[in-house]
Amino acid sequence: MENLDFLNETSLNTLIDEASQLFQSCQNPDLLEQHKAIFFGKNGKITALMKNLGKLSVDEKKVAGAKINAVKKQIEDLLTAQRDLIKNQQLQKRLSAEALDISLPGRNENLGALHPVSQTLQRIENLFASLGFSVADGPEIEEDFYNFTALNTPENHPARSMHDTFYLLDDDGKVLQNYLLRTHTSPIQARFMQQHVGKVAEKNSQNLVEKMPEIRIIAPGRVYRVDSDATHSPMFHQVEGLWIGENISFADLKGVIADFLRKFFETDDLQVRFRPSFFPFTEPSAEIDVAFMSGALKGKWLEIAGCGMVHPNVLKMAGISPEHQRGFAFGFGPDRLTMLRYGINDLRLFFGDGSDLRFAKQFI
Ligand code: DAH
Repeated sequence: MENLDFLNETSLNTLIDEASQLFQSCQNPDLLEQHKAIFFGKNGKITALMKNLGKLSVDEKKVAGAKINAVKKQIEDLLTAQRDLIKNQQLQKRLSAEALDISLPGRNENLGALHPVSQTLQRIENLFASLGFSVADGPEIEEDFYNFTALNTPENHPARSMHDTFYLLDDDGKVLQNYLLRTHTSPIQARFMQQHVGKVAEKNSQNLVEKMPEIRIIAPGRVYRVDSDATHSPMFHQVEGLWIGENISFADLKGVIADFLRKFFETDDLQVRFRPSFFPFTEPSAEIDVAFMSGALKGKWLEIAGCGMVHPNVLKMAGISPEHQRGFAFGFGPDRLTMLRYGINDLRLFFGDGSDLRFAKQFI
């Protein structure tokens, strides 16, 4: 059996050790397959052993074959083990690279909130809606006619001066004659009445409407005046109100305003005063003042709106007969109402240069 010397234990164990070391130090799957060829390739070490079998007798072949197969199997097992190890390592690597920590809290969107004045406007709209008023709108670039003429404002009225009103320039830098930035929301009264009357077909001999469905609107919006200090901003807000019907009186005006103010400030601890005043578009006219019975502003009268019975000329210019229809109008300053409700002392905090995110965030 000396022919079997080439299969001595030591050399076979060396072969297994060699494979084991080679495979185990290999982390790369392609390289591992190359290492496999060292043993099982055409010129591989196991293949070489097999080649020797041809020279052996049948008995020798049986013994040698079994020995070689045992070694072959061990080396194959080592190979498979290393293949699995590499595959597993690669999988672990990928899993940890793609790991998603679902326990991490989500990133919050920076949610905005309505500006305090917008919140006030919404409140006013809701409160008046509960009294049956709907909301009307009009343009901020307004015609001189609706801003002044239709509201019974004479040609020489000081409000029409350049000191008070923002006019617009044409392409040549000349003042546009018929347009301006509306100085109040009152033009919406004139526009709304005109539109309303346009839908009512029947008119009398002077082209005036005598019978029509009631008008009950409020009109919130921005207005512009040449004015700027702690309590005046060149842009501010107003809420116009108008109620026209066959029998609407100053008593209705007082009732609506008092009811609104108590609801708006959420207190009955409030006094309301109507102080005689003048506006070209109302007769009689009044200024509305409130005084709180408690709190920091206790006992102080604060002016918050203008109002009055709609002037007959205003009704006539809109095509409504003042003999048959009458009603009241009012104009609130919602910026002022917001300042009072939240205890804010400078109007400039609301707009432009004075604005500050820390201020705005208090109202979220
Ligand atoms: N438009 C007036 C102003 O800007 C406010 C006003 C007063 C509106 C009386 C009205 C009203 O509707 O009846 O000062």
